Amino acid sequence: MRVPVIAGNWKMYKTAGEAAAFAKAFLPLVAGVREVEIVLAPPFPSIAAVADLVRRSGVFVASQNVHFADEGAYTGEVSPRMVKDAGASHCIIGHSERRQYFAETDDSANRKVRAALAAGLTPIFCLGETLAERKAGKTFDVVERQIRGGLKDIPGPDGPKVVVAYEPVWAIGTGVTATPEQAQEVHAFLRGLLKERFGSAAAAVRILYGGSVKPDNIATLMAKEDIDGALVGGASLAADSFARIVKFK
Ligand code: PGA
Repeated sequence: MRVPVIAGNWKMYKTAGEAAAFAKAFLPLVAGVREVEIVLAPPFPSIAAVADLVRRSGVFVASQNVHFADEGAYTGEVSPRMVKDAGASHCIIGHSERRQYFAETDDSANRKVRAALAAGLTPIFCLGETLAERKAGKTFDVVERQIRGGLKDIPGPDGPKVVVAYEPVWAIGTGVTATPEQAQEVHAFLRGLLKERFGSAAAAVRILYGGSVKPDNIATLMAKEDIDGALVGGASLAADSFARIVKFK
């Protein structure tokens, strides 16, 4: 049984005050939800404030990125240890916006996934093809390269600790969601690759879908066998819409 993960990626939205106001409005709406791992990913400066507010609520906090070193002369970067100390338990790694605008590669994402695991954080490792890649029939080649690269040298026992997020780039922030069938096809393919890599433990890996997930499309996505949750951008910014996604059943 895989516990579903519903994670809200706030991207570069919300000050600490706005993030705290969200948490206060959101918690009563999801009180009593026990069968979903709920994760909020605010910008770095709001992690501590949100983590303080959600403590003992069962809601988890993620960073949207981490560096791969513990500490060092890396101006502008934040280490897994610092993120954890601020109260986060998860971290998003390799998001397509990091790949597109900040030169993230499979290799740098892999170093971050390994560093996050070493620090005791749950990595939410993102991958997905662009529209041009899909149109060229390269979807499976691209996601295979990304997952092999991103999870390189992860020791077997750590496999199930990684959460994978399949986010087709053409579906992110566009209002165009992959159909449940399109998503399931890729998720099943990824599960097969995870099986090669981690054996039977692959059955425990949560594979999330991301890309224009909304309250009205979450249930049909979640009905698919290999879709184990969602990484939600725009629709996670308002407490009521994110709560409706969390309570998709
Ligand atoms: P979206 O973003 O839900 O706004 O499409 C998803 C993401 O980027 O994780």
